Amino acid sequence: MAIVKIIDENRTVTDRQSVADYLMTRGIRYEYWTPAHPVERDSPAEEILKAYEGEIERLKALGGYVTADVIDVNAQTPGLDSMLAKFNREHWHDEDEVRFIIHGHGLFHVRSKEGQVVPIEVEPGDLILLPKGTWHWFDLCADRQIRAIRLFQNPSGWTPHYTESGVDKNFQPICFGPSDISTQV
Ligand SMILES: [Fe+2]
Repeated sequence: MAIVKIIDENRTVTDRQSVADYLMTRGIRYEYWTPAHPVERDSPAEEILKAYEGEIERLKALGGYVTADVIDVNAQTPGLDSMLAKFNREHWHDEDEVRFIIHGHGLFHVRSKEGQVVPIEVEPGDLILLPKGTWHWFDLCADRQIRAIRLFQNPSGWTPHYTESGVDKNFQPICFGPSDISTQV
């Protein structure tokens, strides 16, 4: 389940409905998905996409997404640190950032236009949808791996635009949950 820190209120939200309700107040969609049939975390991408086809098609119709793929990032990924360095500074995209987590963990920080920062830790089963233009940054957790389905309206729109606010430097890129424990979908 996702973990959301509400910094102003000094509380943490972990149950799925509360996470979804709170994030919706921030304009962020959260869902929890289960596969139509069992899949392993290292199943081929086609099998993963097939297992979540119903959810993917529903979201495509909702958000105008045209393609879906599966991304794998882990400690063995060549150039991992330089890849992560592109996304751990505050940025936005010209299209929605849609991620469904299959394996591993990640930490999004989202900042509202009023300046409120919300850390959101995601794990397998979590779907998160940041609308285009949302200020955010992303870090891996201690397990340094993530496998996720991505949905795109237009892949070329996914280039990061940096705010250069420096706000990201005020927040520790440290996850909250037990991310060193291997989790399987
Ligand atoms: Fe991003």
